[in-house]
Amino acid sequence: MERLKNKVALITGSASGIGAATAKLFAREGAKIVIADINAEEAEKQAAEIRDRGGEAIAIAVDISDGQQVQQMYKQAIATFATINILHCNAGVLIIGSAETPPEEHWHKTLAVNLTGHYFCVKYGIPILKKAGGGAIAITASISGMMGEPDLIAYDTTKGGLINLTRQLAVEYAKDGIRVNSISPGWIDTPFNDPIYELTPLDESSLDKMIPLARQGTPEEVANAVLFLVSDEASYITGHNLVVDGGLTIKI
Ligand SMILES: NC(=O)c1ccc[n+]([C@@H]2O[C@H](COP(=O)([O-])OP(=O)(O)OC[C@H]3O[C@@H](n4cnc5c(N)ncnc54)[C@H](O)[C@@H]3O)[C@@H](O)[C@H]2O)c1
Repeated sequence: MERLKNKVALITGSASGIGAATAKLFAREGAKIVIADINAEEAEKQAAEIRDRGGEAIAIAVDISDGQQVQQMYKQAIATFATINILHCNAGVLIIGSAETPPEEHWHKTLAVNLTGHYFCVKYGIPILKKAGGGAIAITASISGMMGEPDLIAYDTTKGGLINLTRQLAVEYAKDGIRVNSISPGWIDTPFNDPIYELTPLDESSLDKMIPLARQGTPEEVANAVLFLVSDEASYITGHNLVVDGGLTIKI
């Protein structure tokens, strides 16, 4: 326990799902938490829950696709906790569509949040980690970034981009004591996949048949992987993409 004692962790997309589970786990491990999310009301609820359990947490409303808002987010975080040691770039959107079907705005919106938003978070966050003497970055990619799936043109493109963004950052910032790794979850039980259930006949029982471990993962199971990667237990691991998918991607 207390693997993150005296650390400050900022987690984007932490008002819900994987980010919220990571925030709670990091808090239990002793970190001070910044819940950063576009959903201000839910972000505040998550922060309040951590404080109610004796942890330290603030909520900041931010749209990560806006570089000025990201800079403001860091200003607010520093004003409260003075530094940041751990950054979990986790916010994301999923919009259904193939090359021909959706309006162009869907492509631009997905890239703006899932790729450019993460770029803003590292662009303005890395100087803070450097000032702190190093740190760890975890980026939530997806198994969708390791394969092609029907009707997910923009999503699959951005998630593949994040896996390689991770490698680029890992190489560039190793000299500054900053480790950068990605996590690629498979099917995790959060509201995130609702648009897919609406589009395809897949239901939860057919998913269970597809996945070797025969069930969806929980946000907490992804959070455990994130914790490992940002903790000192992973001190020699950087540029890695840790797959958390119940065996889905190794099954024919
Ligand atoms: N659930 C899955 O099966 C699954 C699988 C692979 C990868 N992922 C990835 O995990 C991450 C978290 O997803 P989740 O399943 O916890 O979903 P979720 O919907 O529970 O959480 C996503 C959070 O991101 C926030 N968000 C969206 N746009 C934002 C923006 N522009 N700025 C700031 N915050 C924003 C939302 O408000 C929400 O709180 C995403 O990047 C997603 O691509 C999820």
